[in-house]
Amino acid sequence: MGRDHDPPTALLRRRPVSAKRTLSVPGIAYGGDYNPEQWLEEVWAEDMRLMREAGVTMVSVGIFSWALLEPSEGSYDFSRMDRLLGLLHENGIAADLATPTAAPPAWFFRAHPEALPVDRDGRTLSYGSRQTFCPSSPAYRTAALRIAGALAERYADHPAVAMWHIHNEYGCHNAQCYCDTSAESFRRWLRARYGDDLAALNHAWGTTFWSQWYYDWDEILPPRATGAVPNPTHQLDWRRFCSDELLSLCTAEREVLAAAAPDIPATTNFMVMQNFDALDYWRWAPELDVVSNDHYLMSADPASEIDVAMSGDLVRSLAGGPWLLMEHSTGAVNWQPVNRAKRPGELRRNALAHVAHGADGIAYFQWRASKAGAEQWHSAMLPHSGTDSRIWRDVVRLGADLKALAEVRGSTGTAEVAVVWDWNARWALELPSQPSAELRFQDLVRSWYEPLWREGVAVDFVRPDADLSPYRLVLVPSLYLVDDEGTANLTGFAERGGTLAIGFHSGAVDENAHVRLGGYPGAFRQALGVRSDELFPLLPGEQVPLSGGGTALLWSERVRLEGAEAVTSYEDGPLKGVPAVTRHSYGEGTTWYLATHPDPATLASLLTRIRTEAGVAPVRTAPEGVEVVRRRGSSADYLFVIDHTGRGAEVTVADGAVELLTGKPVPGTVTVAPGEVAVVREPRER
Ligand code: GLA
Repeated sequence: MGRDHDPPTALLRRRPVSAKRTLSVPGIAYGGDYNPEQWLEEVWAEDMRLMREAGVTMVSVGIFSWALLEPSEGSYDFSRMDRLLGLLHENGIAADLATPTAAPPAWFFRAHPEALPVDRDGRTLSYGSRQTFCPSSPAYRTAALRIAGALAERYADHPAVAMWHIHNEYGCHNAQCYCDTSAESFRRWLRARYGDDLAALNHAWGTTFWSQWYYDWDEILPPRATGAVPNPTHQLDWRRFCSDELLSLCTAEREVLAAAAPDIPATTNFMVMQNFDALDYWRWAPELDVVSNDHYLMSADPASEIDVAMSGDLVRSLAGGPWLLMEHSTGAVNWQPVNRAKRPGELRRNALAHVAHGADGIAYFQWRASKAGAEQWHSAMLPHSGTDSRIWRDVVRLGADLKALAEVRGSTGTAEVAVVWDWNARWALELPSQPSAELRFQDLVRSWYEPLWREGVAVDFVRPDADLSPYRLVLVPSLYLVDDEGTANLTGFAERGGTLAIGFHSGAVDENAHVRLGGYPGAFRQALGVRSDELFPLLPGEQVPLSGGGTALLWSERVRLEGAEAVTSYEDGPLKGVPAVTRHSYGEGTTWYLATHPDPATLASLLTRIRTEAGVAPVRTAPEGVEVVRRRGSSADYLFVIDHTGRGAEVTVADGAVELLTGKPVPGTVTVAPGEVAVVREPRER
């Protein structure tokens, strides 16, 4: 059952940036997923008319068309796609043409039942929805590359095709398959990782524990349901493998497409929020010409505008510049327990906030709301109720807004603060049998990001081993796992004069999830000037008063000062008098340790102090809840002012400023009406 694809180490080779192709659609692209196969062709003419009315410039087509494009193995029917691409071209709308590989047809599974995925408990899932295939299946790989190749051959020179949309949201439903084929593939990946040295794997996994020592590669399985907790490093390597396995499918499709159409850029849509954690996007982003992301609001989030901003900052950081918002929603989705509609003006605020945080294109799932199928209750650009609807009016208005923002394209962020984000640390933190099961990586990062957002401080996200020289302040809300290289990079930043603030339970384990001995927080102990000898996680709801005011939540530990000073200490409980937050002069710089999770107001005032001492200022002074974001172009800055308060605001701008959405000069001050958005061009001295 051998399979012919790149070993995992080959995935680490980065494509040179110069080899990246760019999207030819001008200005800020606007559109959505377009699934006209759900409708009679009479409807398509109306779609074209309405797309033009809304200012749509690019749509993603064919994402779920496999069953119609390839009615039986190797026989194709491109007639519908020919007509569709022709129609789009006649109407001046570009196609982001998808490989339909996220939804193999029923005939494929009847011929290859072994390609169905198996869950952790050993259940084989059935076809009948989408993305129900085993990522390691050779039959799936062959079939996916065959249809991708056939599409590429046929449409490589089609004038409508501006980009390839590879697959759809890799790993959304099938990131982990536990079948025997996946087991074989996992073993191949492990052999490459450990240089064919089984003893090295045994040491890395600590398999002397619970009699898990492996004598033969074939003994190693995916971490299937077992009687007690599986080995942590086994689980961690499994998560790494699963991300790489899907990436190898993506790069294989990319190569097939590039062979037929060397000039057409390729993307695949990421999902960096919504608590999706299956893929290490730091490894994925360099493999794509264009980084794109899907973002949906969570109904239960009381401040989802902050999630939009954090998502945008993370995707911009992954892309190293502008990116595309491939999907979001005009209103309610259909996959949460209760699906909240957007409030007045929220559609516009959301879309323009994504642009503010670096998006050079805005698209929705989907163009026309379905009347049948699993997503019939999901909002769309053209709702069930038709054009006499608030959503449609907002969609048309947004099209005009995006047209007015064409010159913003290509401009980038200006952050002086970097927040460390790492999927390996996230996976390891959330493994079972931790000191506390209450720690959620995304929530911890969000809790630090939120006060910065409220103050209007610009933020980039970075890997632990990133170049930190552009930043004054590096924040590490949660980095349970870190290797020696990441440790040296972060502490070296402080040593050379930067300010480094680190959250509790960071630096605890190395890349194999082995505890760093000698006291906590292992890797960062010396740089932080502290040493803890015992951890005291707090129970859900438990609060401990802090000496400077406020309370400690989630976590505490018995910190001893080894050079650092105490900023605040516990006032009660078993750790009464023990430091909870510390500050240390380290080399030329300063380090902070937040050995607990202070309540939100206390955390906010600490972060204000930390960033002020580091010399970091907000982008512009504005009332809380008025989001101000800057994109920097070659000769001008673009200041996005978004009122989330419902009260409107006035913000100081440069004398020669012009508001782009209205085209009006706004010398000195811009006024934003309640719930509205302004985008101000401020000329910049070269
Ligand atoms: C995802 C998918 C889309 C659609 C939307 C619904 O983002 O990519 O096909 O299912 O969710 O929100």
